[in-house]
Amino acid sequence: MVVLSVVEGDITKLDVDAIVNAANSSLLGGGGVDGAIHCAAGPELVRECRLLGGCETGEAKVTKGYRLPARIIIHTVGPVWRGGMDGEPGLLASCYANAIRLAGLRNRSSIAFPAISTGIYGYPKREAAEIAVSTCRTTSSTYPSIERVIFCCFDRETRQIYQDLMS
Ligand code: AR6
Repeated sequence: MVVLSVVEGDITKLDVDAIVNAANSSLLGGGGVDGAIHCAAGPELVRECRLLGGCETGEAKVTKGYRLPARIIIHTVGPVWRGGMDGEPGLLASCYANAIRLAGLRNRSSIAFPAISTGIYGYPKREAAEIAVSTCRTTSSTYPSIERVIFCCFDRETRQIYQDLMS
């Protein structure tokens, strides 16, 4: 049985098997949570990322965690919000499902997500959180190694949205 939980804070500090990065298609770093992860993991991370050949929206790729407490980083590229009629919900669900799948295939038990696409990419927070929770619930049940899914919220508003959805 998978336990879903919510925390408020900085994802780079979490001692979990896998953290998920809300990256861009270059995978070479950026602002927001991506910048924080690269900064905390150290320069070896971008070296490994250069070998990955980028990442399509909705897809995910894995690197080591380097200086992070997390063992691995799953980099995924969320959709840019363009009003919701451009496939954004499906692409966002794909980010969560692919990240869980990659963690599951590596026999990882705990995985933490930021609120993908809801910062610079402008996805409405509540709609994004609904997709995150429902996709993680359904996908994680297919991967027996996954025991814990943590939604790491950077602000109170986002944490409140997740708590409301999960109560
Ligand atoms: N820990 C947890 N969550 C965080 C952290 C952190 N340290 N820092 C920010 N957030 P964003 P996006 C939250 O903009 O919308 C980058 O430049 C933030 O408050 O990081 O998917 C990439 O390279 C928000 O709730 O990602 C891409 O170009 C959430 O993380 C682009 O931004 C996502 O915000 C991706 O945009």
